[in-house]
Amino acid sequence: MQIDTFTLFPEWFQWFGAQRHVANARAGGLELRYANYRDHTSLSGGQVDDAPFGGGAGMVLRVDVVDAALGAFYGCDSLELRRERRVVALTPSGRILDEALAVELAVEPALTLLCGRYEGFDERIVEHLATDAISIGRYVLSGGELAAMVLTDAVVRKLGGALGHEDSALEESFSEALGGAPEYPHYTRPAEHRGWRVPDVLLSGHHADVRAWRLEQSRGRAQRGSG
Ligand code: 6GU
Repeated sequence: MQIDTFTLFPEWFQWFGAQRHVANARAGGLELRYANYRDHTSLSGGQVDDAPFGGGAGMVLRVDVVDAALGAFYGCDSLELRRERRVVALTPSGRILDEALAVELAVEPALTLLCGRYEGFDERIVEHLATDAISIGRYVLSGGELAAMVLTDAVVRKLGGALGHEDSALEESFSEALGGAPEYPHYTRPAEHRGWRVPDVLLSGHHADVRAWRLEQSRGRAQRGSG
């Protein structure tokens, strides 16, 4: 899979790309590339944003700058691009990222992520250049970069080879194996700490009982609405 991220801060992603699970995924064929909008602006002083028409606070990422960056990076018209791959604008007003959307994106051969900054995107970027608008939650971040990392992390977990143990992703929270419910609680050694005991069933060695207990816990968490 190939994920290209357009941002004003490509250096932020060095830390992300160096994390063990991401590095493993890259060794297994995941390709992560970065492009800086500023490298493709024809405006003076490397300008990429502008004041909003109609007035108001903040600055808005310009549609011509994003269009030029996409065209230069891919060597094609950006309108062709969105027929070939999903181009995701990361914006707080987008579709909320959840496990189902992560699975949906993970089967794509290639993604392009567009990070907004300041007050966000000129709406024509979302409407004409992107295929999707995605948000990571109902709160506002200063830019799309952290959201792009969150999305990439959630997607990379779905690719083979990213996790040390292939089963790790199978029964994790919200997975199909758990009927979309949050994951059951985990315990490890010591079996008792300050009188806090690990549930007996987990120490029993009865796999069927362990399984039943875990599913029950997972369902209970779903009903309580906590993860
Ligand atoms: Cl994708 N971008 C920004 N700026 N804020 C957000 C977000 C994205 N998702 C939640 N808040």
